[in-house]
Amino acid sequence: MKITVVGAGYVGLVSGACFAEFGFEVICVDKDRLKIDNLNEGKIPIYEPGLDSLVNQGVKAKRLKFTTDLKSSIEGSDVVMIAVGTPTRRGDGHADLTYVYESAREIAQALDGYAVIVNKSTVPVGTSRKVAEIIQNTRPDFIEGTSFDVASNPEFLREGSAINDFIRPDRIVIGTNSEKAQKILQKLYRPLYLIETPIVFTTPQTAELIKYAANGFLAMKISFINQMADLCEKTNADVQVLAKGIGLDKRIGGKFLHAGPGYGGSCFPKDTLALSQIAASYNVKCSLIDDVIQYNDQRKLDMAEKIIQAMKSVTNKKVTILGLTFKPNTDDLREAPSIAIIPQILKNNIAVSIYDPLYYLGSERLQHALDYEPELKKTQFEKSAYDAVKDAGCVVILTEWNEFRALDVEKIHKLMNTKTTPLFMDFRNIYRPEDMTAFKYYGIGKTSIETL
Ligand SMILES: NC(=O)c1ccc[n+]([C@@H]2O[C@H](COP(=O)([O-])OP(=O)(O)OC[C@H]3O[C@@H](n4cnc5c(N)ncnc54)[C@H](O)[C@@H]3O)[C@@H](O)[C@H]2O)c1
Repeated sequence: MKITVVGAGYVGLVSGACFAEFGFEVICVDKDRLKIDNLNEGKIPIYEPGLDSLVNQGVKAKRLKFTTDLKSSIEGSDVVMIAVGTPTRRGDGHADLTYVYESAREIAQALDGYAVIVNKSTVPVGTSRKVAEIIQNTRPDFIEGTSFDVASNPEFLREGSAINDFIRPDRIVIGTNSEKAQKILQKLYRPLYLIETPIVFTTPQTAELIKYAANGFLAMKISFINQMADLCEKTNADVQVLAKGIGLDKRIGGKFLHAGPGYGGSCFPKDTLALSQIAASYNVKCSLIDDVIQYNDQRKLDMAEKIIQAMKSVTNKKVTILGLTFKPNTDDLREAPSIAIIPQILKNNIAVSIYDPLYYLGSERLQHALDYEPELKKTQFEKSAYDAVKDAGCVVILTEWNEFRALDVEKIHKLMNTKTTPLFMDFRNIYRPEDMTAFKYYGIGKTSIETL
């Protein structure tokens, strides 16, 4: 079976490398020539644990190729996957489908025989239909159902654990009205039958909505525990114990119940906005999702306010931020809480030093992303957590990188060198308050800011 993947970004590259690992012949096509040149030289454009060796294995076995030439790669393909970006459309919160439609037109022009066009990008309900229409209009000689079919196969991988998520998914969702397409996609995912991965076969519109509903629900779960954390702080309760207490209930489940500074990343913010817009366009009330969006935006600003308030009690007017990205094991800065929090701190004439493991290791992607965040450039980037905390009044853990889990807190305390008791604000609840008595310690949903 031959697969062409259009878009060699996070989803396209990981999917392509994994399908090649399953033994299929895969060509990843991207219009970004530099990305393709780099991939052909063995350079991986994103930081994702294990991806470099998986890609290299696929290339070595000659099952994985990279090109900018869609026409020649589509030749003889059984499956053509669309894995291009669907960012938020400027101004209205809808998903921008420009890249999806553009790829549908380009695929149509290149088709030379029957293929299933699979939409892996996260797209609003009705997009599969629209893609089929574009293909039909671009190639009137190609008849839907005979010369091509369109299916929806949303992707649920998470950055930072993308390969494991792809190879051992909780489920596969396939939305198509065509039996022929269903059989081909069943064959594509056959390697996962061995581990008994459940497959949900459904219509394209249900598959499209499943993806948004999943991300909407997870964003809601995070926002719920964050609100409970606010309540715990006021009532002298402990959100981690609360999360355990409710998470052990199988109807609730313990995952996604970690209080923090608000969700970020390339998916939840844009997908919740798009879900809200989809509902509005059908005149359906999805007020839960609207509340989640509003609350999460405000939460990031509230976290900045907590830091600013706490800083009133220390002499050294410098804050050290540990971790920039929205989660560990990724160099993705999109919508990270740090982008909202750091400018607020700077506005209050408080200096900021930063240590992020991937920035220090020279992630080009992270450095490039920072070009679009001029405020963050007004800070001092350091090469270790210990360099960053020198003479700081406050340390804030924003991202739970593994290397922040066992910091030498005595050394940090000494390096901070402040006349007043230094602050340690743990936005990921990595440390135990009883081990941090040398500091004024703040743990989310554990400590009231007023008592610091
Ligand atoms: N990143 C994630 O964790 C994740 C997880 C699940 C689903 N998704 C969804 O998957 C889709 C892709 O996301 P991503 O993070 O991989 O995006 P990305 O921005 O990392 O990559 C998209 C790639 O598509 C390429 N591209 C755009 N138009 C093209 C065209 N016409 N021909 C060839 N290449 C083209 C771009 O150059 C880019 O390299 C989105 O809809 C996203 O919501 C993402």
